[in-house]
Amino acid sequence: MESSGYGLLKDKTGIIFGALNEASIAWSIAEAAYREGARFALSNAPVARRLGSLDILAEKTESPIFWADASSDEELEAAFSQVKEEFGQIDFIVHSIGMGINVRKKRPYDDLNYDWYHKTLDISAVSLHRIVHHAVETGALADGASVLALSYIGAQRVFSEYSEMGDAKALLESIVRALGYRLGKRRIRINSISQSPTRTVAGSGISGFDAMFEFADRIAPLGNADAESCADYAVVLLSDFTRMVTMQNLFHDGGFSTMGISDRIVEDMNDVLGTGTDE
Ligand SMILES: NC(=O)c1ccc[n+]([C@@H]2O[C@H](COP(=O)([O-])OP(=O)(O)OC[C@H]3O[C@@H](n4cnc5c(N)ncnc54)[C@H](O)[C@@H]3O)[C@@H](O)[C@H]2O)c1
Repeated sequence: MESSGYGLLKDKTGIIFGALNEASIAWSIAEAAYREGARFALSNAPVARRLGSLDILAEKTESPIFWADASSDEELEAAFSQVKEEFGQIDFIVHSIGMGINVRKKRPYDDLNYDWYHKTLDISAVSLHRIVHHAVETGALADGASVLALSYIGAQRVFSEYSEMGDAKALLESIVRALGYRLGKRRIRINSISQSPTRTVAGSGISGFDAMFEFADRIAPLGNADAESCADYAVVLLSDFTRMVTMQNLFHDGGFSTMGISDRIVEDMNDVLGTGTDE
């Protein structure tokens, strides 16, 4: 990509939730949005103040930070009031938030702690609903805006170690569709990107992540998509070039979702099993 960008988001304003450190997908999206001419606020949970390095990104992209826990109505309402004060009405929202509590604490899917499960669904999926709700209620979201969330193919298929996060992503994608219908009357669109396994804090919290990463990389004809390429796709979805795209879950996975098995996996399996020789 040309480092000067294409001005895809010139004159656009927004808010990006979920940049924690340089590895975060939202971090790359913020850098790409800045490159494309957008002005925006950054947001994360107050606890991320001491866990991450959002200040560095804020300085780099000349962005204010509005801290808000995405499971708190009060904090989100306050954040969108601040956004409105800073930018007036905004043109885009990026939801790049995820947290699997049972996954982190290594509770298996068939023995979930239900309080943690609720929290996982609340933080990882219901938060998208809350964010859109407060953006609309505070009058911070402009007609014709674009809302984007990050998902994973575990919403549709079983990835054994992805556990409760598969349910969270299924709910997230359903919320994208249900809100898409309602927001359409204001020409606001909402989509999710279903991204390849990516080495981030959220990604590495999943046991078996390395296997998921390597498996997908060996299956996908283009290999795994990294956070930078995801960010390039994201800015296109925030731009006017995709103004008629809504309620979609868009795979950004190097072709993984359409594959069955690849030569590379066949060779790897043959190596492990000692099969595949004619003798
Ligand atoms: N990493 C992957 O392999 C992968 C693949 C597909 C989709 N995704 C999705 O991409 C998104 C971003 O994740 P990432 O991989 O960049 O990891 P990340 O850990 O860098 O980002 C997750 C973010 O969620 C924030 N968060 C957690 N709880 C929150 C709360 N209560 N309120 C507000 N923010 C909160 C974290 O502080 C963090 O910034 C998530 O939705 C994730 O599920 C990740």
